[in-house]
Amino acid sequence: MRHLLDTKTLSRHDALRILDVAEDMRDTQTREIKKLPTLRGKTVVNLFFEDSTRTRISFEAAAKRLSADVINFSAKGSSVSKGESLQDTAQTLQAMGADAVVIRHGASGAPQTLATSGWISAGVVNAGDGTHEHPTQALLDAFTIRKRRFGADSRGRDLTGVAVTIVGDILHSRVARSNVWLLSTLGADVTLVAPPTLVPQDVSAWPARIRYDLDDALAAGPDAVMMLRIQLERMNAAYFPTEREYSRRWGLDARRVASLPADSIVMHPGPMNRGLEISADAADSPRSTVLEQVANGVSVRMAALYLLLAGERDTTNAEEAAR
Ligand code: NCD
Repeated sequence: MRHLLDTKTLSRHDALRILDVAEDMRDTQTREIKKLPTLRGKTVVNLFFEDSTRTRISFEAAAKRLSADVINFSAKGSSVSKGESLQDTAQTLQAMGADAVVIRHGASGAPQTLATSGWISAGVVNAGDGTHEHPTQALLDAFTIRKRRFGADSRGRDLTGVAVTIVGDILHSRVARSNVWLLSTLGADVTLVAPPTLVPQDVSAWPARIRYDLDDALAAGPDAVMMLRIQLERMNAAYFPTEREYSRRWGLDARRVASLPADSIVMHPGPMNRGLEISADAADSPRSTVLEQVANGVSVRMAALYLLLAGERDTTNAEEAAR
């Protein structure tokens, strides 16, 4: 793997490879000393043009636990706010010797531009670009679902037969897009639930079914229900009448959680709007995997950085050449 830009073009083989290496990484994270020497001497740059708490910290923890040097670069307080272009920023990072660049950007396609521009030779990891994709989030979600289902026996397994229902602001969600592609590649059965105003126009081309009624969708007994944040910052119009009405029709509360099969899980990528798309008791219920997702995120990002920077460059090239 040279870059990790999306899940739409990620093969089943590469997805399972990342998930399986993440299992190995997770095992090391239960040890008293969590740090591995694997990426000693490598430099990982976190290039964040959009706000982030958990994703940035998660990549930082992942890189540090592999002994890489980490440079955190956030657009606020940098020359980007003085109008410096992505090209100039990238070339500066190249001159500093970055081996991997983890980029979050408000523009869909920015990581792809960085990876294919020739400005840098570093591997590029997409940490969320506009409303396009957020591949490591989908990988950590798939990892969490697989772990809950198969436990210690997860390695090598895909998600055939697993029903996942993704609920809420699909329109603005790169998490939903990355999950739809990855989950379907892994064989899961994906249902999307949203108010009609929050369904993207091109959704009929996605490998997922659409429902508008949450109670109907939950009655089908999904194995995982993934709630999405209402992305108020990306909304320039009214997409639903009131927050109260949204919660009543599309919010997950204790009653809806109780209607699910006993082993179904409740997921959310964070940050949560408690009381809007998810009630506090649903978010904190024993069914909720929110904090497991955060913990698994570090293992999955360790795996991605490892595969980009250390692991498989040669074998991957050899595999590519053999195709
Ligand atoms: C998501 C994001 O930034 O796309 N959050 C995250 O990475 N943990 C989802 C969101 O912001 O709602």
